[in-house]
Amino acid sequence: MRKRFIAERVFLSKLTQAIKELTPTRQIVILGIESSCDDTSAAVLVDDKIHANITADQAFHRNFGGVVPEAASRAHQRDILPVVEAALAEAKIDKSQLDAIAYTRGPGLLGSLLVGSSFAKSLAQALGVPAIPIHHIRAHVLAHFIDTGASKPSFPFLCLTVSGGHTLILKVDSPFEYRILGETLDDAAGEAFDKAAKLLGLPYPGGPLIDKLAQSGDPRKFAFTKPKVPGIDLSFSGLKSNIKQFIDRSLKSNPDFIEQHLNDLAASIQFTIVSMLLEQLIFATKHTGIREVALAGGVSANSELRAQLQTHAQKYGWNTYTPPIQYCTDNGAMIAIAGKFALEAGELGALADAAVAKWEIE
Ligand code: KG4
Ligand code: ZN
Repeated sequence: MRKRFIAERVFLSKLTQAIKELTPTRQIVILGIESSCDDTSAAVLVDDKIHANITADQAFHRNFGGVVPEAASRAHQRDILPVVEAALAEAKIDKSQLDAIAYTRGPGLLGSLLVGSSFAKSLAQALGVPAIPIHHIRAHVLAHFIDTGASKPSFPFLCLTVSGGHTLILKVDSPFEYRILGETLDDAAGEAFDKAAKLLGLPYPGGPLIDKLAQSGDPRKFAFTKPKVPGIDLSFSGLKSNIKQFIDRSLKSNPDFIEQHLNDLAASIQFTIVSMLLEQLIFATKHTGIREVALAGGVSANSELRAQLQTHAQKYGWNTYTPPIQYCTDNGAMIAIAGKFALEAGELGALADAAVAKWEIE
């Protein structure tokens, strides 16, 4: 009796497998649109793989020392159609093949968000497919689930999410459940990089430039005070004042101080910011007992942050996850993968969903 039962189960499972192989499962195709700040980006996701990810950045903000919101909105309006068309062409996907359009609803610059969200909703309406509103920071985290061949974090995991506007240590329980364990009380980590770069006379955004200059600098040449706050939170504004006072003092005795020590200054500033982030991340892993540790957001492209993460991973036995560089800074791909999770969960949003400058992650 038992033998017959087992034989039947084996037969059934073989039959199911054969049917699966004969019936080609239809692919899910999602267009992701990101326009929350100064990058207009569109990506095409086919199942979990990115077939195109095209970004038009707005380099002209450099001349103003930061993003000019009104100019950003106008540039998004100029670039959005060519960027979307280029992404579809590169992916060899016709608009009629799209199953959904995911767009950044917030948080971000309202004018910029309005361009992407209005465009996405209009196109979705014309094609008769859902327009899915996406949380920008959640999307940074979910970029880890794009199929790149690399292993993906298992839930729950900790994610140090560091961008130009946010610094969060998150406990991620599922694609839809986020808990903030710690956050910055003032400037974001990216902002700390950008403000320090400005003090060194570097153009916006200074983070990548500091990273580059630091490659040939001594990270221990100059010591800056790391502002301490209780618990798992962070504060960067005191660091900026400390760097400014140090530079002002040094320039008084040597007007060429910055030029003569640019690489060491960049390396020392970078080392201080990254060490502050890592100290709180270590605290969070000890507090939760979670050893699945990921990075996300623009600052996760930083080479010192990636290197220090590896050092600590070996010391504490963490499994670490860092997104490929192209999915660290703002991109349409992360919006598309977040859209895939939402589509599968039936969280489609509504056409009346308005863009929001502020949006809690929890
Ligand atoms: O995530 P993101 O592209 O945009 C926001 O959502 O804010 O992050 C932009 C931030 C900027 O502050 C930029 O200076 C910083 O990320 N950033 C870096 C690096 N690449 C980008 N900071 C340090 N090192 C880098 N390699
Ligand atoms: Zn971002």
